[in-house]
Amino acid sequence: MQKVGVIGLGSMGKVHLRNYCEMPDVQVVGVMDVAQANLDDAKKRFGVPGFTHLPDLLKLKPDAVSISVPTVLHYEVALEVIEHGVALLVEKPLAATAEQGWRLVEAAKAKGVPLMVGHIERFNPAIQRMKELIGDDLISLSIERVGPYPVRIQDVGVIRDLGSHDIDLIRHLTGSNFETVSGVFSASLGKHEDSALITAKMENGVLAHITTNWVTPFRSRKVTASCKSRFVEADLMTQQVREYGMFAESEKNYTVRDWPVMRREQMREELTAFLAAVRDKTRPPITGEDGLAVLKVIERIFEGA
Ligand SMILES: NC(=O)c1ccc[n+]([C@@H]2O[C@H](COP(=O)([O-])OP(=O)(O)OC[C@H]3O[C@@H](n4cnc5c(N)ncnc54)[C@H](O)[C@@H]3O)[C@@H](O)[C@H]2O)c1
Repeated sequence: MQKVGVIGLGSMGKVHLRNYCEMPDVQVVGVMDVAQANLDDAKKRFGVPGFTHLPDLLKLKPDAVSISVPTVLHYEVALEVIEHGVALLVEKPLAATAEQGWRLVEAAKAKGVPLMVGHIERFNPAIQRMKELIGDDLISLSIERVGPYPVRIQDVGVIRDLGSHDIDLIRHLTGSNFETVSGVFSASLGKHEDSALITAKMENGVLAHITTNWVTPFRSRKVTASCKSRFVEADLMTQQVREYGMFAESEKNYTVRDWPVMRREQMREELTAFLAAVRDKTRPPITGEDGLAVLKVIERIFEGA
C-alpha cells in the first residue's frame, strides 16, 4: 500500500485527491490546504484527515505527495517536501521561474527524491495516438489552446498557465528541444498577458506554433501536425484524432481516417505512472528536467519580447 498526500485542494487538487482515493493499493494519509473549508469538504467527501500546516501532513511520512497550490507557491512548498525526503508530483508549470525550477531539480537530485511534473496532456490518448502517427517525417506542429478567463488564476499569465502545456507537448511530440523561439503577447483583461502567439524552430528542424489566450468565449484545445506522408488533427477535449493521407495528384483526392476514441481519465494515468516510478525507483515519465526545460523556453519568450 503506497501512502500519499495532496497539498492544495483547489480545482486541480480535488482531481488528484479523487483519483488517489479511487486507486487500488493507495492510502491517502492526509491532505493540506490553508483554507479550512477545502479540508472540511475533503473530510466529508473522502473521509481523509486535513491539515492547515504542512509539517503536520509530512509528519505522517507519506511515500509521495501531489502539489497543486498556486504556481507562485510551488517552489517553497516543493522545497519543504523535498527536505522531508518525500517523492513529489508538482503540477505544471514546475515553478514560477527557471531559477526556482533549477533549484528544485538540484535539491531533489541531492536528496535522491523522485520529482515529477504534471504535464498531464502527455497522458491524453489523442496525443499518444498522434505521437504514434507522426513517426519521423514531421514538418510542423500547430497548437490552439484558448478559452474564457479563469478568474481564480491571478498569479501568472496565459503563457505560464496554458502555454506551458503546449511547450511541453511540442518537446514531447518532436522529441527535440527548442532552437529558436519567440512570442508576441498582450494584456487586455488583467495585469498579466492573456493573449499570446508563439513560434519556434526545433533543433531537428520541425517548425511549431502556439495560439493561446483567455479571450475566447469557448474552450478549444486542438493540435495539427503536418508530415511528409500525412496530416493529423487531434482534439484534446474530445480525444478525437483524424488522419489525412497526402493529396494524390493522379486521383485528385486524399484519404481521411477517423481513429477510434480511447477515452481515458488522464489524471489516473498520470498518478499511476508517478506512483509506479516511486515504487519501482525508476525515472518518472516527466522529470524535473522536463519541467525546467519548459520554464527556460518561457523565459526566452519574455526576454525576446
Ligand atoms: N494540469 C492541468 O491541466 C492544470 C489545470 C489547472 C491548474 N493546474 C495547476 O495546478 C496548480 C493549482 O491550480 P488550481 O487551478 O487548482 O488553483 P486553485 O486556486 O483552484 O487552487 C489552489 C489551492 O491551493 C490552496 N493554497 C494556497 N496557498 C497554499 C499553501 N501555502 N499551502 C497549501 N495550499 C495552499 C488554496 O487554498 C486553493 O485551495 C497551478 O500551478 C496550476 O498551474 C494544472
